[in-house]
Amino acid sequence: MKYYYLTLLLIFFSFENYAQKEWAVYDEALIPEYQLPALMKTDKGKDVTTVKEWRQRRKELLQHFATEMYGITPGEKVKVQFKTIEKSEQALNGKAVRKQILATFSANGRTAPMNILIYLPKNAHKPVPLFVGLNFYGNQTICDDPAILTNEAYCLNVEEKGVYNNKSSEAIRGVQSERWCVDSIINAGYGLATIYYGELYPDYEEGREAGVASLFSTGKNEKEKNEQGQAISIWSWGLSRAMDYFETDEDIDEKKIILMGHSRLGKAALWAGAQDERFAIIISNDSGCGGAALFRRKIGETARIINAYFPHWFCGKFKQYNEREEFLPVDQHALIALMAPRPVYVASAEDDLWADPKGEYLSAYHAGEVYGLYGLKALGSSEMPPVNAPQGNYIGYHIRTGGHDVTPYDWSCYLTFVKRFLSE
Ligand code: GCU
Repeated sequence: MKYYYLTLLLIFFSFENYAQKEWAVYDEALIPEYQLPALMKTDKGKDVTTVKEWRQRRKELLQHFATEMYGITPGEKVKVQFKTIEKSEQALNGKAVRKQILATFSANGRTAPMNILIYLPKNAHKPVPLFVGLNFYGNQTICDDPAILTNEAYCLNVEEKGVYNNKSSEAIRGVQSERWCVDSIINAGYGLATIYYGELYPDYEEGREAGVASLFSTGKNEKEKNEQGQAISIWSWGLSRAMDYFETDEDIDEKKIILMGHSRLGKAALWAGAQDERFAIIISNDSGCGGAALFRRKIGETARIINAYFPHWFCGKFKQYNEREEFLPVDQHALIALMAPRPVYVASAEDDLWADPKGEYLSAYHAGEVYGLYGLKALGSSEMPPVNAPQGNYIGYHIRTGGHDVTPYDWSCYLTFVKRFLSE
């Protein structure tokens, strides 16, 4: 049964990728001459030379990302109630504590749930540092633990709506275990929290009408509608609400929360990390177009392609940059720079040309200018590093062999990276 669902998911993704890839260019020789927007100059052309001036410049950049790309994150007052609905001291063969937290949001006369699954190492010194990331198919898919609750109201129903639906079920329990490496995380003394992204904004065009997204109003006029945050923005909003919960849990060190996301969820992690400075370290795994990769290279997935296939990810206004990436007031090196002075890690995969590994690296490299202002080392060279050789300091990077995925190798690099900053 599990494999039936997995096969359907694979067929769906392969078909989707086949259609998109028809449009993509991969030849470096076809990359247009481009100039990246300056990080260290304000919109009015004034040089940024101090941290204080950067803090002002930072606001301009955030504003551009919000109005031109991801959309404005909902600022509406949403009530939230956190409730521990399950807890065990004997999880993962006795070495972890498992908590399942139900966040119930209410606004505009509606309510919607978000379930946070948390594992904490039992023998670690409390409060513990914690990784948090959204997952693609449901909390019960990240590990073969029969006690992880599936939210029946949100069950995966491939026949009904395709995989881009906000439902997730029993049949796929544990299918993403290899991507999460829960054991290694716990053995290294870190906690892990995860949330199913479909609960926030189900990943299809009309998804806004379901899940947490449905709590927010859609904007009063054309301008507001056009600049309004869509899926990526609501996924990031959910991560910040999880952060609100971590601040209330005595077992978790809220000053040591590491935000990690893969692919579209890497885009969301970067946008959340840029806006919410409570996240201590941010990790982007193969986040590609609209994540870490530079738009101006126009290679692999581009603005036109992503807007055509995922019109609900970015704000309406972003469509005006289709084939006009050079007019964007920002590029993705600015997104990485918004993490400064916090450590940030960008990871690519050699065969994941769709995500443009070189564009991901160059973003990380160019963001280093801002880290320099803080006196922090980042990545030393604009040359792509060799495969399987992690680089950098406050900005870390690796490109590993293989394709678009999260592997135990990626996790081992993340654990090594975060340890440098989080061990007392
Ligand atoms: C598609 C999409 C990417 C995205 C990826 C994923 O390939 O084009 O932008 O990162 O799906 O989320 O797996």
